[in-house]
Amino acid sequence: MNIILLAPPAAGKGTQAELLEQKYHLNHLSTGDLLRASASREDAFGKEMKKILESGVLVSDDIIFKLLDEYLEESENKNLLFDGFPRNINQAERLENMLKERNDQLDFVFLLEVEKEILETRITGRRLCRKCGSVYNVNINSLKPKQNSICDKCGGELYQRNDDNKDSFEVRYQEYLDKTSTLINYYQNKKILYRIDSEKPKEEVFQSISNIIEKEMTE
Ligand code: AP5
Repeated sequence: MNIILLAPPAAGKGTQAELLEQKYHLNHLSTGDLLRASASREDAFGKEMKKILESGVLVSDDIIFKLLDEYLEESENKNLLFDGFPRNINQAERLENMLKERNDQLDFVFLLEVEKEILETRITGRRLCRKCGSVYNVNINSLKPKQNSICDKCGGELYQRNDDNKDSFEVRYQEYLDKTSTLINYYQNKKILYRIDSEKPKEEVFQSISNIIEKEMTE
């Protein structure tokens, strides 16, 4: 089973990916996480990635494919959950070819829909654990950590991403509208696009996604 989570920034891709990965034993592939790992390096490439991520514009397709190929070479699990990839038609076509070469296909594209104003609140309130990567939100009561700046799960320190500010959000959102949202029609035409109301609490969003997967898999 191969799944894409398609959505604007902070719509809940990472949050849902964590839940889906556990329930369906998928290999969660976040191109954002791969890029942030590169950006943490002190070499010239790392510095270049850091600059691009902070600005909010998309990284070039060549870089994305290079990171993706490296990742897939090392991964054994064939059930893939794509979070933040593809982000344009070129990336989508390349993914399709790559899956064909593995005698595989895409099964579901979940479009997580959230209004822009809500996304902004989510972006500015997001906090992440440095140790285990768990995601919190200090602007949303049900998603706040129990103790300020400390992860409930592992006691790690919570931090804010460099691109989680209003300026960078505006650029990221515009990139989504200009380049990524064209994928909605693309996957709709392939009849594998499912719209999900991602303004609901995360457990309800997860239930909606799971219901669709289970319904389609039993038919
Ligand atoms: P990436 O890391 O993918 O960032 P993004 O798309 O902007 O998405 P986010 O990670 O911000 O949000 P999310 O949807 O995962 O939301 P989350 O679950 O954390 O990419 C970063 C950058 O890398 C891009 O800007 C680009 O430069 C580059 N890049 C990446 N992939 C690329 C590609 N393929 N090609 C080119 N460039 C690429 O949730 C957000 C917050 O909301 C959290 O605090 C969470 O707790 C809260 N929340 C989640 N769900 C709910 C809910 N249901 N109700 C209330 N709050 C919720």
